[in-house]
Amino acid sequence: MTRAHVPAGTVVSVSGLSKAFRNVVALEDVTLSIEAGEAFGILGPNGAGKTTTVECVAGTLRPDGGRVTVLGVDPAADRATVRGRVGYQLQAAALPPALRVEEALRLFAAFYPEPADVPELLRIVGLHEHRKRPFDKLSGGQKQRLSIALALIGDPDVVVFDELTTGLDPQGRRDIRQLIQRVKDDGITVVLVTHYLDDVERLCDRLAIIDAGRTRFVGTPAELLAVSGTGPGGHGSLEDAYLAFIEQAPAE
Ligand SMILES: Nc1ncnc2c1ncn2[C@@H]1O[C@H](COP(=O)(O)OP(=O)(O)OP(=O)(O)O)[C@@H](O)[C@H]1O
Ligand SMILES: [Mg+2]
Repeated sequence: MTRAHVPAGTVVSVSGLSKAFRNVVALEDVTLSIEAGEAFGILGPNGAGKTTTVECVAGTLRPDGGRVTVLGVDPAADRATVRGRVGYQLQAAALPPALRVEEALRLFAAFYPEPADVPELLRIVGLHEHRKRPFDKLSGGQKQRLSIALALIGDPDVVVFDELTTGLDPQGRRDIRQLIQRVKDDGITVVLVTHYLDDVERLCDRLAIIDAGRTRFVGTPAELLAVSGTGPGGHGSLEDAYLAFIEQAPAE
């Protein structure tokens, strides 16, 4: 893919975000910003508020309080702008079982004014050979590839992947990581929600840790190692640093 325009500066800005579902407080105070061209990791325990945060960024969920700006607009108010420029990994399981790979891409391409080229996208995600295969005959890794292709079909400037590598074998995860790296190399800003510290280590320029609906940390992997006291000079991995940080974080 050759990108005609690449945005510069801050592309995602989230400040003081709050969101409750009935009596469940999902977000209390999430604040972070993501720069153009970055790969940005979002980590945190199960139920911390990561998916809720990225849904507010993608504009599929409206926050109760705080401010979200994506490419200069409020994603909940300006759905049209955000839909065309922000790709969000679709819950792949929602596709009809008999829908074929290429059909799914062509169907979704029709929603966008300037979609990506379907055959090229099929080749990029490694599904060209499987383009006639129905969705329910795809392996887990192939479904993830299709999810990536669907997130990229609108030729977005920003793409959000929520737990893309969960449930894949090591080789599948490596392949998906290479694919994400390729997306990043193409100048697309990547937001990656993951529980895998090695994904963050290999792909992300910066990361945020969200815990109990609040951002506890925003910085580079090296900064996380430094603040957690496990490195540099220490001997810990990024996973050790993350776990140490989460365990030290004050409970609220
Ligand atoms: N639609 C909803 N209705 C009620 N509660 C919700 C809803 N969506 C999320 N929650 C709650 O909000 C909190 C944050 O959920 P969220 O899905 O954002 O967490 P997460 O960090 O993505 O977790 P995981 O790592 O398990 O995916 C949880 O307590 C969850 O149960
Ligand atoms: Mg989640």
